[in-house]
Amino acid sequence: MNTLRVALDGPAGAGKSTVAKRVAAALGVAYVDTGAMYRAITWKALQREIPLHDEAALTDLANSIRIDFKPRPEGQAVFVDGVEVTDAIRTLEVTNNVSAVSAVAGVRIAMVNLQRDIASRTGVLMDGRDIGTVVLPNADVKIWLTASVEARANRRYQELLGKGVQCDLQQIQDDIQRRDEYDASREHSPMVKAEDAVVVDTTGMSVDEVIAKIQSICTSAQAQK
Ligand code: DC
Repeated sequence: MNTLRVALDGPAGAGKSTVAKRVAAALGVAYVDTGAMYRAITWKALQREIPLHDEAALTDLANSIRIDFKPRPEGQAVFVDGVEVTDAIRTLEVTNNVSAVSAVAGVRIAMVNLQRDIASRTGVLMDGRDIGTVVLPNADVKIWLTASVEARANRRYQELLGKGVQCDLQQIQDDIQRRDEYDASREHSPMVKAEDAVVVDTTGMSVDEVIAKIQSICTSAQAQK
């Protein structure tokens, strides 16, 4: 088993998860989508009608929730307390509320502990916002994946159109911008590039080009390990 530990961070819509899945498979390491973990808590909190300003209740939830990932040919399935939530955690309702939940200190502590525990047992490629700065500050590779807000909005727009969802490009761009600002300005573990992260700007790059670039960064790090 490959023991390489890769931290892949960056703003919403930079293409992290698409790239992360394929690079992790090529490297032979586990893929951990940490955004899905914060989404899973948000989904459960909405189900239980926990007020999203109730930090104590959200922290209790984060400490008691069970989140499992199961690899599938078409991607990774996500389960919360045994219930499949792969699609349910991607709804607009969850997307619009996840920043507030992920800003709660107790929620972050619980998730960071879980994430470190996974990384202590296996090689990983972890994608998120604070992996290189907080979760795995000693990762073998740190990448900051970004793209212009226009490019990120356009990708999300095309993805939704492809699924037959009616949407408005400007609205998507505004939502992405609002989420970036919220994630970057929160008090606990704000979204910030690790000083030693390699920046990959994917504006104008195809998915295959991004994958090739990241894979080559990881392969050189592995050769030096
Ligand atoms: O990557 P994503 O869009 O699925 O992430 C969902 C939200 O979770 C996003 O608004 C920021 C937050 N998040 C975080 O705070 N820390 C992480 N490591 C991953 C995601």
